[in-house]
Amino acid sequence: MKNRKLIAYLMIALCIFSGCSSKTVVEETSSNLLLGFSQLGSESSWRIGNTASMESAAKRHNISLMMENAYQKQEKQIDSIRSFIAYQVDVIAFCPIVEDGWDNVLTEAKNAGIPVILVDRLINTSDESLYTAYVGADFYQEGVSAADFLVRKAKDLGKEHLLIVEIAGTVDATPTLQRYDGFHDIIDNDDTFQMLETISGDFLRSKGEECMKYLLNKYGDDIDVMYSHNDSMTLGAIDAIEAWGAKPGKDIIIITVDGEQATVDLISEGKINCVIECTPMLGDIVMEHAKKLMAGEEVPRITSPQEETFSEYDDLRQLPPRGY
Ligand code: AHR
Repeated sequence: MKNRKLIAYLMIALCIFSGCSSKTVVEETSSNLLLGFSQLGSESSWRIGNTASMESAAKRHNISLMMENAYQKQEKQIDSIRSFIAYQVDVIAFCPIVEDGWDNVLTEAKNAGIPVILVDRLINTSDESLYTAYVGADFYQEGVSAADFLVRKAKDLGKEHLLIVEIAGTVDATPTLQRYDGFHDIIDNDDTFQMLETISGDFLRSKGEECMKYLLNKYGDDIDVMYSHNDSMTLGAIDAIEAWGAKPGKDIIIITVDGEQATVDLISEGKINCVIECTPMLGDIVMEHAKKLMAGEEVPRITSPQEETFSEYDDLRQLPPRGY
């Protein structure tokens, strides 16, 4: 442990002197289990909640955490994983920003005998042995739940034709691919619905606003529904809709994914019609997995938390604070 501590401090010093922008945070506990965790960025409240969940769970489970933020850059995540390997951490966990491009670095982790847990997002690989477990949402089901709400809403309104715009997340990221597929598998087979355009807002509030401005300029009052892949983009899009002079939740049906406090509150204000939950609270499951792996025990290949739909059809007054 002493050697590791020295290398950790050297890594931090090297980072400071080389002007590297990603920050290594080492949270030490008395345990012998050291987890290297690469977070992909800080693009949303969801992500900030996920980072906090990993930090607090590590403390609760007495696991030392070496954490790096990649600020939305895959190259930085690859560098972090390499530094975790060099440091000989016990377990590596990371949230892959995109699905492609991980085989080389994960082969290095495998050769070093370090188990890898994918957190929040999946990777695209032909070698399934490159990771031990995935802890994260069933994004396909989230897309299906979003479409299910829309089907119900259309029936309620007695509408036979609704025009939809979709603000998608980061290109090649698991939630983007699966939230798209789940939604389209239902909507595309129903003549009630017509997709006008799908555009990427990169999971960022500022881009959500930009995308919605563009869509309003192009399609104007024709837009009946906005389906957005995360709450940050939705909040930006709502700003754009209000600036345009329309009423979100009334003139345009708003369906979003994540379940931040801010968007759940907007259901009661009538500005959002439906929020599909995606919980960032994955820390405890990841830490439990890490401890089991160190004890030589098996862990499930996939663990997805139970998630809910919150909508204008529900009484949300008793809902506990969301925590993100
Ligand atoms: O991967 C989970 C997604 O990433 C969340 O929906 C979003 O808010 C975050 O940026």
